[in-house]
Amino acid sequence: MDHELPFEPYRVKVVERIHRVPREERQRLLQAAEYNIFKIPSAAIYVDLLTDSGTSAMSDRQWGALMTGDEAYAQSRSWEDFEGTIQRITGYRHVLPCHQGRAAENLLLGELVQERHVIPNNIHFDTTRANVEFRGAVALDCVCDEGLDPTREAPFKGNMSLTKLGAAFEKYGTHVRTSVYEARDGSLTAVVSIWDTQSAAKTAGDFLAELPDVVARTGDRGEGHAGEESGFGTMGMFYTVVPDYREEFVETFGEVGGMLAEMEGHHDTRLMVNRDDENDMFIASQWRSREDAMGFFRSDAFRDTVQWGREVLADRPRHVFLA
Ligand SMILES: Cc1ncc(COP(=O)(O)O)c(C=O)c1O
Repeated sequence: MDHELPFEPYRVKVVERIHRVPREERQRLLQAAEYNIFKIPSAAIYVDLLTDSGTSAMSDRQWGALMTGDEAYAQSRSWEDFEGTIQRITGYRHVLPCHQGRAAENLLLGELVQERHVIPNNIHFDTTRANVEFRGAVALDCVCDEGLDPTREAPFKGNMSLTKLGAAFEKYGTHVRTSVYEARDGSLTAVVSIWDTQSAAKTAGDFLAELPDVVARTGDRGEGHAGEESGFGTMGMFYTVVPDYREEFVETFGEVGGMLAEMEGHHDTRLMVNRDDENDMFIASQWRSREDAMGFFRSDAFRDTVQWGREVLADRPRHVFLA
């Protein structure tokens, strides 16, 4: 839109008469509606700012599309246009049209939300909250403080407050800890999240894996390997080292890494370091199959390394099948 123009850059082709309601009448109507704008008769509304859902005028193109649209029952051109546009804007592969926002929420939350779940959000839209609470779950608003203060100016007032979100995890949590680990050459980043129950971890993992272009699942071999069968994927070996032994640990990893590279069924192994604690590391190792990975676990070399590890580790090592 051209913001220089002092008027809207379009011509109106249809007019509908509306009436300005005097101030006293507006006050009376607001009081009678108990300040709930849903209760005010539409005939008394002069400028309608209740919704952005497109309930007023349609453009000439929208009206025209009613005529030029393809209403074929299957594989219609209009559907392809629609699907392609949604995919382009959102980056999501699957598009399921729904005639109404609150009906879409009902379908989605019916699948995702169960009794006693806690659903954090910036601020729940009213129908979203209703759909969550209807299922006996908690709709938790975690918006940043400036979002709750209409008098404050800020570049974006819809951010989730990570402090409030973190506190919610503490309060309701099956969540134990989430840390970000980076490969030492910066080529790979891993979000490792520890949960009390396997089902909580799976739910969180499924949500993250749905985010386009943000997160790949452990086991996805990443760029350049699209479509390649990754087999059982990644095994994570988590170690917290005694600070004085950190260098030695990293060197030993180099040697073990060399040995792994020779092993049958081994794809890739990297040392990942916690961004917030350089002594907390994990070895992410990708294998063709669980059997191949177990072959390494049973090897003499692994046993010797574990023996040596007792001296240098500050904590019990944890070995986890990540995918
Ligand atoms: C999250 C969400 N739910 C529901 C709605 C309401 O849409 P509808 O009137 O189609 O139910 C909106 C509208 O913007 C919305 O953003």
